[in-house]
Amino acid sequence: MGSATATATATATGAVDKGVDFANYFCTYGFLYHQKEMLCDRVRMDAYFNAIFENKHDFEGKTVLDVGTGSGILAIWCAQAGARKVYAVEATKMAVHASQLVHANKLQDVVQVIEGSMEDITLPEKVDVIISEWMGYFLLRESMLDSVICARNRWLKPNGVMYPSHARMWMAPIRSGLVDQKMSDYEGAMDDWYSFINETKSYYGVDMSVLTRSFTEEQRKYYMQTSIWNNLHPNQIIGTPTIIMEMDCLTTTVDDIRTVRASISSSITEENARFCGFAGWFDVHFRGSSKNPAQSEIELTTAPSYDSGTHWGQQVFLLYPSLNVQQGDDLVIQFSMSRSKDNHRLMEVDLSCEIRQSSSGELLSPFRNNFLH
Ligand SMILES: C[S@@+](CC[C@H](N)C(=O)[O-])C[C@H]1O[C@@H](n2cnc3c(N)ncnc32)[C@H](O)[C@@H]1O
Repeated sequence: MGSATATATATATGAVDKGVDFANYFCTYGFLYHQKEMLCDRVRMDAYFNAIFENKHDFEGKTVLDVGTGSGILAIWCAQAGARKVYAVEATKMAVHASQLVHANKLQDVVQVIEGSMEDITLPEKVDVIISEWMGYFLLRESMLDSVICARNRWLKPNGVMYPSHARMWMAPIRSGLVDQKMSDYEGAMDDWYSFINETKSYYGVDMSVLTRSFTEEQRKYYMQTSIWNNLHPNQIIGTPTIIMEMDCLTTTVDDIRTVRASISSSITEENARFCGFAGWFDVHFRGSSKNPAQSEIELTTAPSYDSGTHWGQQVFLLYPSLNVQQGDDLVIQFSMSRSKDNHRLMEVDLSCEIRQSSSGELLSPFRNNFLH
């Protein structure tokens, strides 16, 4: 989890500027409070803990690479599960705390903490297992999977195993009070702008109204065209959830995930519902590989839940205006998500949808929206 900002990370040639990337992205991971937020996510912790300790055969006597070890928690569990050697790589100064934790738990003979970027460091040997908690909001935000793929291509033995081994992205139509809230926030910001224009003119003699169009665009983007973090209640889902992407972490490539495109459909399951947009979430699985299947398969899901939310929550993509839909209406959705040109760790989402009404068979005019995610 992270909070990448919109500052440009790409150079004119499209290459990533490492200095800017470190300042924008990695810096927050250097703070213990941020690592603690992840360590307090019980769903996340239980899934990794169970995946490791219910599949000890994958770790006993084996070599492991933990990509982005943070506090070192996963590396320590791998060592406790019997690993012969664990390489725990961390780009930020959190590596110092990981090292302290390893020593305090008397695992320094097994866990070697390496401070550096995964892409730049060298290991003394190939490994049997790569473990990593790389998932960002709606799976791909942060683009940390690139680093895991790079590590896999360089350091995983031919019959090695990925933890997690598989991932999926999901979408479903929702109802949400956020539509009204964001619209009212936007209108409030515009009212405030018009007061500001009047005051600046009368107090300081400068007419700023020429900037109104740009300000309006900026505010619309911020309030209505940016995905929103939310922990939804399951009863806010009004149609069938659909998978928009599945990946095998052993074989997926950076090109596969650079742009995610999906044509999907969802049927409205509620009798009379207000359709306010879509929610996106993900799950990952620990299944081992076909050559080395898990003894115990574990799932980590970030789907809307009655009682076990995660720090990832769901990402909400709101549609303006919201529409009334009926049970049996079919939504035909085109989804595309690609990296922002300005910041490769952020995403641009293009969503369009047609509604085939169950009562008349009529196709409602399609709508389309772009979002920054
Ligand atoms: C989501 S946190 C997970 C931390 C820890 N593994 C856990 O599960 O609590 C991801 C960590 O990976 C680190 N990281 C991300 N990309 C990296 C890279 N290319 N090389 C080394 N560390 C990286 C971040 O600094 C961060 O501490």
